[in-house]
Amino acid sequence: MGALLEIEGLAKRFGGIVAVDGCSFSVETGSITGLIGPNGSGKTTVLNMLSGYLASDAGSILFDGKRIGRPDPTAMYRRGMSRTFQRARVLPEIDVLDNLLVAAPKRGLAVWGMSKANRATVDYAMTLLEDFRLIRLAEAKAGELSYGQQKLLEFATVLMGQPRLVLLDEPTAGVNHVMVDLMTERIRQFHAQGLTFLVIEHNMEFVMSLCNPIVVLDHGKQLFGGAPDEVQQNQLVLDAYLGD
Ligand SMILES: Nc1ncnc2c1ncn2[C@@H]1O[C@H](COP(=O)(O)OP(=O)(O)OP(=O)(O)O)[C@@H](O)[C@H]1O
Ligand SMILES: [Mg+2]
Repeated sequence: MGALLEIEGLAKRFGGIVAVDGCSFSVETGSITGLIGPNGSGKTTVLNMLSGYLASDAGSILFDGKRIGRPDPTAMYRRGMSRTFQRARVLPEIDVLDNLLVAAPKRGLAVWGMSKANRATVDYAMTLLEDFRLIRLAEAKAGELSYGQQKLLEFATVLMGQPRLVLLDEPTAGVNHVMVDLMTERIRQFHAQGLTFLVIEHNMEFVMSLCNPIVVLDHGKQLFGGAPDEVQQNQLVLDAYLGD
């Protein structure tokens, strides 16, 4: 089906630290691509550049065949790329349902302010809350949810924009196994409906069962890319995880 996302030679320095050092890989349309690598290998920095939260020093990004000169978060969201954060970000002071409704694409003139969400938007939000087993908490403030529930809410929120590509930064970190299973089921469900995913994770059982291909980063470069069994048998990958 071809690549939905292609990155070539992406680079980022923070002072003397080379966080990303000429990183190149692609995400095929319809795949659940994994992005793994030791702590500090540059995974989140790559995601931040892709989604427009950080300017890159060099490199190019193609999304849906179009070169994205300077990605910015709102423009990327409109183009169909949504992301979650390594530490879940929700709007803690407003209720769970409203967290979803504010993420719905706005129609009409912004000058009218936050117009009342239409029926279809509310229905879709309620369906997502059912899917993520958050429906009983629809009127609770998001800040009152457990950390795992906030990760689920954040995932549900990014789906409100009806994205084509979802970037997940460590969706299972700090989440109990029941919610990890729920997260896995939802990823599979939306993948079956045509969504493409790029998933950063340290949970190897989760990555190996869900993702194909898997891209391995080390010191900001792509070290290897391939099917789960190839990654598990690759000596360079083993060295990267066991070495320095
Ligand atoms: N804003 C920043 N300022 C300075 N250094 C940074 C910044 N963000 C990341 N770094 C550094 O860049 C390198 C890559 O960090 P990054 O967070 O991208 O790694 P990661 O692969 O996501 O790691 P982890 O698995 O621990 O989340 C690290 O050395 C990190 O300390
Ligand atoms: Mg990270």
